[in-house]
Amino acid sequence: MMNTYFAKLDMTLDTSDVFTDPAALRCNGEYLRQQKYGVALLRKKSFTSVPNRSYVAADKDAERLIAQLPQRLLNIEVPKVWVLDMQAPVQEPEVMLAPHVDGVRVTAINIYSNTNGERTCFYTYAAGGEIQEVDSFVAKDGDIWLMDVSKPHAVELKPAKNRRVLTLSFITTPFDVVRKVLSCLPS
Ligand SMILES: [Fe+2]
Repeated sequence: MMNTYFAKLDMTLDTSDVFTDPAALRCNGEYLRQQKYGVALLRKKSFTSVPNRSYVAADKDAERLIAQLPQRLLNIEVPKVWVLDMQAPVQEPEVMLAPHVDGVRVTAINIYSNTNGERTCFYTYAAGGEIQEVDSFVAKDGDIWLMDVSKPHAVELKPAKNRRVLTLSFITTPFDVVRKVLSCLPS
């Protein structure tokens, strides 16, 4: 059965400069775990605070990146271009970005820049309202993954390691629609 939570995309995107020029990034939000994930979806675990910042890429960088996507996709929705930074504390051996659903978007294309073997986990709702893990993946630097961020997900971070992801955010277009359009890409 096809994975309905995430898919590795067999595509390349030129992201040069988007990551490298700090002045081109405008801070979009900064939150601690308690603020962003006020309702923990997984009650049995305790989570420490993970400083988590998001930025909006500069218009020129965003436009250059967007122009590389298939027009069929852009006709449906032009995604927002954000950069996400997660900074894992040094002293916490099992630090995790707590399970959550993204509030402002339903589908993401993640282009991984700085990774350290972190595991991205997906969950389903089980009896009693608890969530249980159904699948996971470990992205490597340069990988591009499509994710259904309307479903509960979490990231197991590595202590003292920073993680950076360039992410294309679809506010209304469901995962299946984006996947279908991208799977028709010429190889
Ligand atoms: Fe998320």
